[in-house]
Amino acid sequence: MSNLVEFFKQHYGQAPIAVASAPGRLEILGNHTDYNEGFTLSAAVGQNTQFVIAPVAGRKCRLRDFRDGSQVEFDLDHIDQPRPGDWSNYVKGVIIELRQRGIEIGAFDGGILSTVPLSAGMSSSAALEVSAGFAFAAAFDIALPPVEWAKVGRGVENNYMGLKSGLLDQFSSIYGQADALILSDFRSNEVLKTVALPHGYMIVVANSMVKHNLVDSEYNDRRHSCERVAAAMHAVDPKVKTLRDVSSAMLNEYKDRIDHADYLKAMHVVGEDERVFLGVDLLEKGDIKGFGRLLFASHESSKNNFANSCPELDCLVELATSIPGCLGARLSGGGFGGISIHLVEAAQADTYCRRLEEAYRLQTGKPTETIKCAIGAGASVVKL
Ligand code: GLA
Repeated sequence: MSNLVEFFKQHYGQAPIAVASAPGRLEILGNHTDYNEGFTLSAAVGQNTQFVIAPVAGRKCRLRDFRDGSQVEFDLDHIDQPRPGDWSNYVKGVIIELRQRGIEIGAFDGGILSTVPLSAGMSSSAALEVSAGFAFAAAFDIALPPVEWAKVGRGVENNYMGLKSGLLDQFSSIYGQADALILSDFRSNEVLKTVALPHGYMIVVANSMVKHNLVDSEYNDRRHSCERVAAAMHAVDPKVKTLRDVSSAMLNEYKDRIDHADYLKAMHVVGEDERVFLGVDLLEKGDIKGFGRLLFASHESSKNNFANSCPELDCLVELATSIPGCLGARLSGGGFGGISIHLVEAAQADTYCRRLEEAYRLQTGKPTETIKCAIGAGASVVKL
C-alpha cells in the first residue's frame, strides 16, 4: 500500500486521502447460478486492486494505472458512454451507477495498482469497480451497505458495459474471508456460511489464455435460455420464479415442454446448485476426494450441457486427471475461455504447476499460465 501512496505523491504532488483494496475472486462451484438466484461457493483471492484517491476542485478527473503508467482523464459531465477498450470505463461506470442512485461525487485524482491478472477470469473488473466504490465512499462520505456496492459494480457490467452478469464477482470481492470459501445465496444476497478447505490443499489457477470474441453475447444468450426455461416452469408451477426453484427431477418431468438446447442449459444450472450443497457437505465431512470429484462433474456439465467450455479448457481439465496431486478441476467463471481451477495438494503444487504447463504445451503447442492462489479477505478501505 505504501508503494502506491508514494507513487501517487510523486506523480500528483499531493497526498491521497484514502486507499481502498478489493480482491479478485474464484468461483469454486456454482457456475452461472448467480443470475438464476441460486447458490455459489466462491473465494476472494490474495491478488487485489488498490485504489488511492484525493478529491480535487473542478470537474476533471485524472486516473493513473501505476503498473503500466497509462493515464486517462475524463470530465464528470461527459462520461455517459463507455469508450471502447478503455479500462477506466469500470470507474466511470461506478460514477454513473451512483448518479442513478442520486449520489454525486466530486472530481478526483486517482491511482490504481493491481495484482489481479487481467482478462483471466479472476474478475479484475469487479476488483476495480469495488475498489473504486470503496475509495469514493471514503473520499466523498457515501454511506451504502456493502451489498449495495456489489450491486453498483454489477450495474456497471449490466448497464454500462452490456454484460448481463450476476452478483457473484463483486459480492465475493466484498464478502470474501481469509482462508475460507463462502457459500452465498443470490436470492437473499447473503453469505449463508463459510467453509474452510482442509489444511494441506490449495487452488491452482491455469489460464487457458483464450478469450473468444463473442464472450459477452454467448454469456447473455445463456442467460436468456435460463430465463426461458424458468418461464416454462412457471407456467407449470407459479411458485417457480427462477431456476433456483427448479430441481433436476422437475426439469426431467417437464422435459418435453422445453426446447432441448435450453433444457441442457438449465440442467447445468440446476445441477450446479445441487453440487454446491453436496460440496459443502463433503468438505464438512472432510471428504476432499469427493469434493474434487464434484469439480470434475461440474466441468463435464459445462462441456456437455451448458456449452461454455472450449478445447483448451477441456485439455487442462483432462490433464488434471492424470497428473499426481490433483483432486479435481473445472472451468471457473463465465467460460468460453478464461481459467480453470485445480484443487491440489499444497505440498505438490509447484511440481503440479510445472507438469501441467509442460503437458499442456506438448498437447496444444500453446502456453498456459499457472497461479497458486491464496484465499484472501474481502475488500476494505482506510482513510489516511
Ligand atoms: C461471470 C459473471 C458472474 C457469474 C459467472 C458464472 O464471472 O460475471 O456473474 O455469472 O460468470 O458463474
